[in-house]
Amino acid sequence: MSGELMRFSVAMPEDLLMQFDRLVARRGLAKNRSEVIRDLVREALVEEECGIPGREVMGTLTIVYNHHSNDLQQKLHHIQHEFLENIVSSMHVHVDEHNCLEVIVLKGESSLVQDIANMILGTKGVKNGKLVTTVTRQLF
Ligand code: NI
Repeated sequence: MSGELMRFSVAMPEDLLMQFDRLVARRGLAKNRSEVIRDLVREALVEEECGIPGREVMGTLTIVYNHHSNDLQQKLHHIQHEFLENIVSSMHVHVDEHNCLEVIVLKGESSLVQDIANMILGTKGVKNGKLVTTVTRQLF
């Protein structure tokens, strides 16, 4: 894979280009159109790779829950012990009197990681959460 920069031209509707330029501006002074396009392409490639069954991925699942909810903590603990191979680590933050935030780091085959995350997100009492995945092998 060559790191040499290649030039190409892109055609897009004017209003879309104006919105894109506002996005470039929001990303800070150090960014220009080319860099933002490169970022977006890398982001799309990682996202696509993570969605392919069989791919090895790593992910962080962030959840918020009320620790007073009926046996919720035991259920969450149970799931994490059941998937020892896939759950690398977790961090627990006591947010306030009632709420906890947990960040769970997962690894493994993409659909299994998604299934474990869905199991946790679907546990009654989990208020909200999100899984963010990335690939560990070099893509570009
Ligand atoms: Ni807590």
